[in-house]
Amino acid sequence: MSSSLVSASPGEPSETRLWAALMRLAEFVEPGQAGWTRRVFSCAYMESRALVRTMMEEAGLAVTQDPVGNLIGRLGGRDPALPPLVVGSHTDTVSGGGRFDGMVGVVAAIEVARTLATSSISLRRPLWIVDFLGEEPNRFGLSCLGSRAVTGHLTEQHMDLIDDAGLSLGEELRRAGWRPDDLGSARWQGGSLHAYLELHIEQGAQLERAGRQIGIVTAIAGISRARIDIEGRADHAGTTPMELRLDALQAAAEIVLATDAIGRDQEGGEEGVATVGRLLVEPNVTNVIPARAQLGVELRSIAPRWLEQRSRDLELLVDRVARERRLVLTLEWLSTEPPVRCDGRLRRAMGRAASQVGADPFELPSGASHDAAHIARIAPMGMLFIPSRGGRSHCPEEWSEPAEVALGARSLLQTVLDVDAAQL
Ligand code: HGY
Ligand code: MN
Ligand code: MN
Repeated sequence: MSSSLVSASPGEPSETRLWAALMRLAEFVEPGQAGWTRRVFSCAYMESRALVRTMMEEAGLAVTQDPVGNLIGRLGGRDPALPPLVVGSHTDTVSGGGRFDGMVGVVAAIEVARTLATSSISLRRPLWIVDFLGEEPNRFGLSCLGSRAVTGHLTEQHMDLIDDAGLSLGEELRRAGWRPDDLGSARWQGGSLHAYLELHIEQGAQLERAGRQIGIVTAIAGISRARIDIEGRADHAGTTPMELRLDALQAAAEIVLATDAIGRDQEGGEEGVATVGRLLVEPNVTNVIPARAQLGVELRSIAPRWLEQRSRDLELLVDRVARERRLVLTLEWLSTEPPVRCDGRLRRAMGRAASQVGADPFELPSGASHDAAHIARIAPMGMLFIPSRGGRSHCPEEWSEPAEVALGARSLLQTVLDVDAAQL
């Protein structure tokens, strides 16, 4: 894939500006929360999006917000009729999260657009820069709100999902000033994009172990997320004999440990991971036998068969614990996203572009999921990674070096130039 722009040079994304944008965004955090917490719908998040919009406008982009809160900055191309090249990520965080997960992709995409807009370069096609709404799982139990919406996978039914306070997702979107009754007009038609690119931190340690600065993603892991509710019986902790107890937390503990064993089962040579990341206990007081428990469980793998088999194992585990402990257990699958392969042509283009800017690219799968996994439903998708120090992410220790962010942005810019000119 050769760039038709080899003679011109658009200049370079500014490492200083990239880092300043990341640190400025990091100032928007929820009070009293660990790390750099900026969850979707929080005041900190809503305020930070005004800054993202300003960053986009100052980069020379025409910015709109769609009915579900996706921020889209557009840069015109020589032929406005051509399908756009889309580059994006997210700016919301997990609780206790860091300053780089998602943010690197958005600020680098904006910096790429600015570099192009302030150079003598004009792309063949329109370039869209997107900050997708709410990529992280939220209190309604659904992740990737914005990228689901543009691919037609945010449905009316999802609007009825409720949080612990009984507020629905639709009401929350409306409260934020968006239009959940108009999901249809947020949708991008299949085939309407030239390609989708996303730069992201690896959130793992493979690049660091390999001593490489740029990763080319081969596939994004599928995720099956479940909620398990356990009904026991509250009784006095002092007067109830052990053999008469209907203890919901004991059952939950058995499921936590057995889920870990499911994740470690690499039978058939295929790998995956299993996590119980959420546990609620009621009434959660020391002198009452736990009456109820709720677990949030997720299974991840790039191997579809591993996911299918371990999902069945989890269902059988829940049935067995219910039977043996004479308790009522219900397992509800909240979302089951299949693994997604990245487009081979984009992988090769990214590899060449990264090499062209002086990196030594390294191919690897992504154990984390991304908006890219949803956009891959309607367009060829490619992802670039930069290293995460110690493989840490979704924690305050999350860190990437300024020079790594800048090399990622340069690789992204070169990829944009090459993919813009390519016939996919
Ligand atoms: O959970 C994930 O894989 C992503 O970081 N939201
Ligand atoms: Mn994340
Ligand atoms: Mn992310």
